Amino acid sequence: MTTTGSVSAMGYIALGSRDLPASTRMAADVLGLRSVENTATRAYLSAADTHHELVYVKSDVEGVDHIGLVAPDSDNLAAIREKVRRGGWRVLAEQPIEEHIEEGFAFIGPEGFTWHVYRGMSIFDNRTGGFGPDRYGHVNLKVRDSVAMVSFLVDVFGFTVSDRIGEDFAFFLRCNPEHHGIAVVKAAGHQPSLHHHAWQAQSITDLGKLADRLAKSGSRLFWGPTRHGAGHNIAAYYIEPGAALVELYTDMEMIYDPRRDAIVWAFEDPGWLSQWDGLSPENMLEFGVPTISR
Ligand SMILES: [Fe+2]
Repeated sequence: MTTTGSVSAMGYIALGSRDLPASTRMAADVLGLRSVENTATRAYLSAADTHHELVYVKSDVEGVDHIGLVAPDSDNLAAIREKVRRGGWRVLAEQPIEEHIEEGFAFIGPEGFTWHVYRGMSIFDNRTGGFGPDRYGHVNLKVRDSVAMVSFLVDVFGFTVSDRIGEDFAFFLRCNPEHHGIAVVKAAGHQPSLHHHAWQAQSITDLGKLADRLAKSGSRLFWGPTRHGAGHNIAAYYIEPGAALVELYTDMEMIYDPRRDAIVWAFEDPGWLSQWDGLSPENMLEFGVPTISR
């Protein structure tokens, strides 16, 4: 049987940083990731047991360097590689572009986002019980053409739409039972950007402890905790040095029924964003870091 090719997990996010030590310090001391490895140009951090779930790359500009997606096996990886070739997307490397990965390739997709699809990242540390999140969860991307981006994610990586907001304002897509691994928001007047990256915690108590650590470091939450409608997660956000938002969340909807239809929210219904009071910061969409061009 030939596979059609799908990713099975969100792997990691790589961000350009002008101040590697400051970015690394905040991710380790405030968010609570483990600092796994540091080189002159890269900092590798993780919440789970893999070598990296967050990479900061020394850069002249703040931005999103690339997004790592996990293929479950070599057959799916090969099938995705073939779809990328047929789609005419520009391939940057036919091999993994980070260390400690067995097999993978990287290419530039719609609106300049670089994708690294791979399998076989090394397990580095399976200790548990730290104060940080359980694992990396999802990214939220601001794009000019949300419909084209969603078509790409569905066709090339096998994502499924879980929720949609309005005709084409936002889409939440999953690649496994978790409600969303990638959210896409139409922000026509903005550069294509990573709006936020998100990390799963055990309980709402962890969101409070995050706020405590921010306060101790002279900072504060940007928003939350609040209950999102789309995804059902309770979420809290802070602003990281590069100006991307970072979300810590818990209690996300898990979807085990493949026949569950996409939930459609009216654009005017603020409940998709906040179930508790319908309110959200007016400048929410202003945040994010643009794609780093190659
Ligand atoms: Fe999110």
